[in-house]
Amino acid sequence: MARAPVYYGDYLKLDRLLSAQEPESVKAGVDAHDEMLFIIVHQAYELWFKQILHELDRIEADFGTIPVTDDAMGRVVHGLNRIHEILKLVVGQLDVLETMTPFDFLDFRDLLMPASGFQSLQFRLIETRLGLAPATRVPFDDKAIDERLSERDRAAFRAAGEKPSLFDLLDQWLARTPFLDWGGATFRDAYRAAVEKHLARDAEMVRSDPAIPQEKRERDLRNIERAIASFSAIFSATDDNGGWRLSGSAVQAALFITLYRDKPAAQQPFRLLAALMDIDETMTLWRYRHALMVERMIGVKIGTGGSSGHAYLRTTAERHRIFGDLFRLSSFLIPRSAVPELPAQVQARMGFVTAS
Ligand code: HEM
Repeated sequence: MARAPVYYGDYLKLDRLLSAQEPESVKAGVDAHDEMLFIIVHQAYELWFKQILHELDRIEADFGTIPVTDDAMGRVVHGLNRIHEILKLVVGQLDVLETMTPFDFLDFRDLLMPASGFQSLQFRLIETRLGLAPATRVPFDDKAIDERLSERDRAAFRAAGEKPSLFDLLDQWLARTPFLDWGGATFRDAYRAAVEKHLARDAEMVRSDPAIPQEKRERDLRNIERAIASFSAIFSATDDNGGWRLSGSAVQAALFITLYRDKPAAQQPFRLLAALMDIDETMTLWRYRHALMVERMIGVKIGTGGSSGHAYLRTTAERHRIFGDLFRLSSFLIPRSAVPELPAQVQARMGFVTAS
């Protein structure tokens, strides 16, 4: 059957999209030119959030299948990179919004109560599906986070929380990483010995340097001891993981991938870890940037949603991290020259070049 020709405006449903801006100030008969900008920037955000959730649908399907095939892995990394690009773009959108001055905002701000970005279901879904742990959420009063959502949104938010998040899938996938068993010895034992040697050398340097004042020396040595204890925890045989959110096996695998990232079999996994860090970092950047904008717009006033405004948002930037463990790994990296060499049979399994 012949298909009707597609017409630009119909395809994009522009009649619906472009008639979806209904300023409260117009309804109230108040002159507030900038409310249109305020609405359009928020709507543009929600469209991008929709695209991020669409990417997450495929990422979860690919990454949640055991085993994750090479093709699936390629799509996962590609999707994560796309999410990162979108996040970079939406941080930049705040510049446009900031062409509205705090004084302009006052023309219509009171008309918005008690609505707030706090009620953005799609933003909550992104956080939840990436893996923001409910216990980490910063409370701003006695109410649970979802009590400010409509009944329908609340149901969607709770349903998302019941499924494994990207963080959970990462944890499980990392824990399944092959190559850590070196036939008798393990990566864990070899790397543990290398790091302890390295940290012991650092401690020796601190102890023997006469230029370091006594107080600083003691502090530095205490820090090294703490690093050794925290490091030992992830390498203990019991999987008791000393404050890491990832399991001990997952942390070891993430370290392995980071150290041997140039081996063909570790290249794509390394890109995956890097993309997750990019996403975490850019989400955090958004949170700081939004908090600063809020400070500029409303000073120390409370938000339309009832929080302490800027202070609450700044705390979320510090605490609402999802893949923080991947950043923490850097504390346990040692120079390339001290990294244990891979046994030949592991190298061969991780390479593109096969013996003829
Ligand atoms: C004039 C511009 C803006 C102001 C003054 C503002 C203010 C606030 C305030 C005060 C909060 C804390 C909750 C509350 O008490 O209401 C908040 C939360 C939030 N806002 Fe905005 N906002 C602005 C623009 C935006 C834009 C463009 C977005 C994009 C979607 C956005 C998304 C959010 C989100 C997602 C939250 C929840 C953050 C969290 O709980 O971690 N805001 N906003």
